[in-house]
Amino acid sequence: MSQYRIAVIGGDGIGPEVTHQAMRAADAAVARTGSSIGWTEFPWGTDYYFAHGRMAPPEFLDELAKFDAMLLGAVGHPQVQDHITLNGLLLPIRRRFDQCVCLRPAYLYAGVESPLRNKPAGSIDMLVFRENTEGEYANVGGRVYQGSDHDVAIQTSVFTRRGCERIIRAAFEKAVTRPRKRVASITKSNAQGYGMVLWDDVFTAVAKEYPQIETESLLVDRAVMEFVRRPESFDVVVASNLFGDILTDLSAIIVGSMGLAASANIDPTRQHPSLFEPVHGSAPDITGKGIANPLAAILSAAMMLDHLGDAKAAQAIHQAVGQLLSDSKTRTPDLGGMAKTEEVGSAVAALISSGA
Ligand code: NAD
Ligand code: IPM
Ligand code: MN
Repeated sequence: MSQYRIAVIGGDGIGPEVTHQAMRAADAAVARTGSSIGWTEFPWGTDYYFAHGRMAPPEFLDELAKFDAMLLGAVGHPQVQDHITLNGLLLPIRRRFDQCVCLRPAYLYAGVESPLRNKPAGSIDMLVFRENTEGEYANVGGRVYQGSDHDVAIQTSVFTRRGCERIIRAAFEKAVTRPRKRVASITKSNAQGYGMVLWDDVFTAVAKEYPQIETESLLVDRAVMEFVRRPESFDVVVASNLFGDILTDLSAIIVGSMGLAASANIDPTRQHPSLFEPVHGSAPDITGKGIANPLAAILSAAMMLDHLGDAKAAQAIHQAVGQLLSDSKTRTPDLGGMAKTEEVGSAVAALISSGA
């Protein structure tokens, strides 16, 4: 029996709405395994910024370091530039806690229709490994002569052998455990002739250590086309920070909705807490309407429990979500239903508790 200490940052927009349902599901799941969760909620985000001029208190990373894991809703507000809000909360967490592996599964559930024609349940089943601490998000650069005709902006990508190798190796290690044993690496090394050529070199070298794994290397423009033309062929996918970001909105929608896409930001060394959050953002267009799909946040909580070693609790959530989607009309409008966020959360919690 364990007691997990989890930090919760609901954040902005639909973030708090979906996070609340994820907490209910996680509580119901650990109750079945005899464990419990001590939640500590932090009111950080753009409302905090309006009141205090910053997204979180100066010592917020030290505060978060004390927890076993973090659950986050979303960050982003239409009235503040995104680079300010995101660089004040989410991105420093990923960097400070060296969460180099961003894991983003996309699975076509029974009962969910893909916008692509004639895709049977389970036919799309991919796991994207997104590099999460460097690459195009390294935050290296500057701006001079701002606002003048001579305005200059420099934004530098940073690719290191260590950074490439640890995400590529993580992808191969996972692929070994999956039945199809494939890894696709996605770059743009025909145009990005330094950093992404280093990535390709590392991919080739690591692949040699895994002869049982079938590999392919795709340019990102071709890859987005293949995600639509032959999504079934992808198993494990590994990509840079920016490409992994873009590809996972695409992988989310081809399995039905942004509202189903979960993600984990992991420090594989476990020296620091990892962060679990849906792939989607704060969705200002539906904020406050009570219709956000909470399943992406709920499935992110399942990834958190898995990471904490409570595989049974994680499995209970997966089973409940699978059953809800295949057997019930209780679903939010993004999946063609009429249900509210709260109703979906209640239905999932009830299915978990009943042990269905
Ligand atoms: P978004 O993911 O917030 O929304 C994209 C579309 O998907 C919208 O139509 C939205 O209504 C829909 N959608 C998203 N999540 C949904 C859910 N759970 N249920 C039903 N529909 C859902 O992307 P955006 O509009 O590009 O970004 C909005 C804000 O969120 C921006 O400020 C952006 O920077 C931020 N953002 C934050 C994160 C994060 O915190 N991890 C991720 C992505 C975007
Ligand atoms: C995501 C988001 C973030 C990212 C933004 C909000 C900085 O889009 O987690 O997918 O690009 O990493
Ligand atoms: Mn994104």
